[in-house]
Amino acid sequence: MTLRIGRYSLAGAALLAPMAGVTDRPFRQLCRAFGAALAPAEMLSADQRLWNTGKSQHRMNHEGEPEPRVVQLAGSEPGQLADAARVNVDLGAHIIDINMGCPAKKVCNRQCGSALLADEALVQRILVAVLRAVSVPVTLKIRTGTDPTHRNAARIAALAQSCGIAAVAIHGRTRADFFHGSAEYDTMRQARAVMSVPLIANGDIDSAERARAVLDFTGAEGVMIGRAAQGAPWIFRDVNAYLATNQFAAPLLRASKTAIILQHLVSLYQFYGEHTGVRMARKHLGWYCRQYSEALDLRRRLMAAEDSASQFRAASQGFGQWAQMQVA
Ligand SMILES: Cc1cc2nc3c(=O)[nH]c(=O)nc-3n(C[C@H](O)[C@H](O)[C@H](O)COP(=O)(O)O)c2cc1C
Repeated sequence: MTLRIGRYSLAGAALLAPMAGVTDRPFRQLCRAFGAALAPAEMLSADQRLWNTGKSQHRMNHEGEPEPRVVQLAGSEPGQLADAARVNVDLGAHIIDINMGCPAKKVCNRQCGSALLADEALVQRILVAVLRAVSVPVTLKIRTGTDPTHRNAARIAALAQSCGIAAVAIHGRTRADFFHGSAEYDTMRQARAVMSVPLIANGDIDSAERARAVLDFTGAEGVMIGRAAQGAPWIFRDVNAYLATNQFAAPLLRASKTAIILQHLVSLYQFYGEHTGVRMARKHLGWYCRQYSEALDLRRRLMAAEDSASQFRAASQGFGQWAQMQVA
């Protein structure tokens, strides 16, 4: 079954989840190359006065990314979100995603992210304003509700569909849950029952089998994968293959993973420049190391490297040795 978002027929059912500080352009491109059907950018404030910072400028950089490019906006004022959506479409966004899922204090204090789920009338005003402002597909990302006693995701999903939203992604936790406990999928199933636009299931999906089980249980058309893609951008290849054929893809060789890690480093240095590039790379290298029990010492060396040349050299030697240890 093909997942369709508005005019776009996607090539797979596994999407990258937007993650601030993680899903920058280099990581999105990597995940897309491994088959992520969509790779939304890190959330961008709808307040255009904040766009002049280096951080926002990086977030708004989509050069060379394949269509459809997804820009996610966070805000609470319908007019401001509508204007921000219009400007981003002019700058090349093909899909606008609205963030009503973020539980972070900084965002929620300004009454946006998942705090908006408590005010369904405001949700409607926002969706109507953004949909009026742009002609590209608009999608919505929400949590299951504000807290375990107020799980209104199904109502919000139905409301979103009536406003013209092209797809709804639901993270199986409430705002109050933050990231604690396990994601639940019953609320997604309820949402599926009251809307016909695609539902994207999200939360704790970390393997191909888990993706299959969540799709079967919820009736969702797609899955969104966040933390399980950190240090494993190839997960999209594995999930898509399994969903399409019920067969596992042959595992990637360690040597191939090493080449991918090194290429990722190069793209981070190019994108951020020397200073920030090395620091952003540390985060990803930590995640790559997490997968390998023998990587403790390597991790220490990678974190100690202060410049891109020594960081790259340490990664090349460390992951290279690790690749050679693989029994053919
Ligand atoms: C570091 C980090 C940053 C995140 N930033 C965003 C964001 O910018 N926008 C958003 O909608 N969700 C954000 N999320 C939530 C994820 O998109 C996703 O809903 C959540 O991690 C659950 O999926 P997972 O279990 O596959 O990680 C973030 C999550 C993490 C871990």
